[in-house]
Amino acid sequence: MSGRLLAPSLAELRKRRSTKWREYDPDVLPLPVAEMDYPIAAPIIDAVTEMMRRSDTGYLGKFPELGLAFAGFAQRRWNWQINPESVRMTTDLGVATIEILRALGSPGDRVVVMPPIYPAFYNWTTEIHFPIVEVPLRKDGTNYSIDFEGLEREFGTGVQFFIISNPHNPLGLIFTSEELKKIAALAKKFGVIILSDEIHAPLTYKGETFTPFGKVSDEARSQVITLTSASKSWNLAGLKCALFFTENSELHEKLEPLVKGIRSRASLIGAASHVAAFSECDEWLDSAIDTIEESSQYFAELVAKHWPNVQISKPKNSYLSWVDFSDTRLGEDPAVELLEKARVAISSGIPFGTGGKHHARLNFATSPEILEEAVTRIAPWL
Ligand SMILES: Cc1ncc(COP(=O)(O)O)c(C=O)c1O
Repeated sequence: MSGRLLAPSLAELRKRRSTKWREYDPDVLPLPVAEMDYPIAAPIIDAVTEMMRRSDTGYLGKFPELGLAFAGFAQRRWNWQINPESVRMTTDLGVATIEILRALGSPGDRVVVMPPIYPAFYNWTTEIHFPIVEVPLRKDGTNYSIDFEGLEREFGTGVQFFIISNPHNPLGLIFTSEELKKIAALAKKFGVIILSDEIHAPLTYKGETFTPFGKVSDEARSQVITLTSASKSWNLAGLKCALFFTENSELHEKLEPLVKGIRSRASLIGAASHVAAFSECDEWLDSAIDTIEESSQYFAELVAKHWPNVQISKPKNSYLSWVDFSDTRLGEDPAVELLEKARVAISSGIPFGTGGKHHARLNFATSPEILEEAVTRIAPWL
């Protein structure tokens, strides 16, 4: 077992300047946006500090270290061999998704997603006029599963793209190799390009197995573009670096015109911190996983004790809980009411698409004290 990460006190956290800490009034406890409250890994702090000491700033150009660092990580953690030279750098997953869709498609092309799903998938595609087609996950109590018939039906209507959150935000679901193979076979049959957003993958819990989509079959290798970054797992959001790659040489070539433009909009600090994350921070990552697993368990205990009429997801990955408030006195949008009444900020379920009403997403990557305070503040309103 590795050590636990300790979140600073609330007073200390309130000195942070990210949106999580600036968005709300000072009496609000913020547990929405996917940032962790834990301290950054020491090798990342060292890498960035050293850059500053050497005045090593400037525009980001070639940075082969990133592909090599990620390929090393993928090999160590998932036994996945990728070609470091196929890795392209970008600002963040949002920019990469938008630019990839633009490069490979045109406005009006349809994109399948499986809600409830990370709301930015809707925002990004709307921005460029690529309509979303929903194939909601099937819900059975707190269990969710893929609607393969729905996917086949929609793929069969000629949709061009499928975006998957693998693992799934907000449910913390890990898809199996068999499930991914089945999707890849359908995508191949109907010529659908898959964008596999694997940003949460490094935070897969001990005893669970994350499967990279691009690894599962020849069909996946031909249909999948993988997008990822260190921003969720090592708390580097906002440093502006991410990466994408595909093993399909034709798609790789089609994406070549993007390379210089989107790379130069990413940041050198982002690239250096990502290299440190992917190559020197496995031990920190293990501690982060232990810490969030423990926090997930503690949150489940608090819910059982204080929120008897609430159901929560059972994540196998990352630090997000999908909370079902359907059996409470709260209305369709519990997050809005709870912000006003309990002074706790969680993410509204409605932007997560079909299945989001009466739900909210809570980020439990914080201290047990803050978690307990949030749960007890909310309890009287349920
Ligand atoms: C599934 C998923 N994809 C992408 C992002 C955002 O990534 P980026 O900041 O690199 O655009 C998030 C952030 O929470 C996320 O949960």
